[in-house]
Amino acid sequence: MGGIGSGLHRTLEICFRKNFTGRPMANRSAAGHRVAVIGGDGIGPEVLAEALKAVAATGVKLATTSFDLGGARYLRDGEVLSDATLAELRRFDAILLGAVGTPGVPPGVIERGLLLKMRFELDLYVNLRPFSGIAPGQTKAHDFVVIRENTEGPYVGEGGVLRRGTPDEVATQGSVNTAKGVERCVRFAFDLARTRARKHLTLVHKTNVLTFAGDLWQRTFDRVAGEYKDVSTAYNHVDAACIYFVQDPHRYDVIVTDNLFGDILTDLGGAVSGGIGVASSANLNPTRSGPSMFEPVHGSAPDIAGKGIANPVAAVLSAAHMLEFLGEARAAQVLRAACVEPTTGSTVAVGDEIARRVRASI
Ligand code: IPM
Ligand code: MN
Repeated sequence: MGGIGSGLHRTLEICFRKNFTGRPMANRSAAGHRVAVIGGDGIGPEVLAEALKAVAATGVKLATTSFDLGGARYLRDGEVLSDATLAELRRFDAILLGAVGTPGVPPGVIERGLLLKMRFELDLYVNLRPFSGIAPGQTKAHDFVVIRENTEGPYVGEGGVLRRGTPDEVATQGSVNTAKGVERCVRFAFDLARTRARKHLTLVHKTNVLTFAGDLWQRTFDRVAGEYKDVSTAYNHVDAACIYFVQDPHRYDVIVTDNLFGDILTDLGGAVSGGIGVASSANLNPTRSGPSMFEPVHGSAPDIAGKGIANPVAAVLSAAHMLEFLGEARAAQVLRAACVEPTTGSTVAVGDEIARRVRASI
């Protein structure tokens, strides 16, 4: 086995240095924070078990409830995410998700019906993905966070098809950008930038081609920047940003971008930061009107499912985001520190080692 976690750079040090998301809820019941656990498909349940093991080692109590959702469930009885199940999920403090997706399910069924439904219906409008490490060919570590708008853009599913399968087929796919949706995301990014040492925020878009949406993003960004004089700003076209991610990632501190650009850029971010096996994410509703959702960036990897070789670090770091958001800053920091030194071995062995390190330092 090629060494799980060996791609994780020593410099892995994640954002959230301060709690910038408002006052965390301090309403933990005696039984612990109420967490809905969706192991999902493929390697999802395996990596999540290790994440929960690491959380347990911090001493933070969780009252977990498992939800059997994902591709396998859909193939079994057709449920993707019913409104009744969604209503149940709303009652939790947080949702922790492993990965979803199974071969044999048509594209979009689980993605739109489960993941995007949660993001949209729970109004998880910020997708936060931190990246740090030494990019291939670089000598210096980078450390930046991508704030991806998570409820709008091309993901809303606006569009349709006419005359499908004929030579006259027409397919359209719109991108929805609202003034409120863009502004709340941009504000979150400025607030985050303000808490970081460099206080530098870059807008990434394609304003030279997507002139309607790009204009709204740029104007909103410039207007809000006026209220954050302590934060320096920059703009990059998304294609140029792809080059910089590889050749000059040190230029970035915080990036704010739209839903689709953020999706693509964050896979690249993972690739230059120790691999997708260590890339974590938080889907946040910063207003705290409902639960936020925490998940690794990686998918269900059916090719390695059940082999015990999946890297649990992305899931552990996603759980760290969750703890941070629930107000358990110290436990979150200990989880992150436990992931810094690379570990090799099976999924369970890496999880055991992380839990051991957590217990040693808590
Ligand atoms: C991600 C994933 C999802 C997305 C898919 C599975 C719908 O790629 O979280 O980045 O496109 O947002
Ligand atoms: Mn993606």
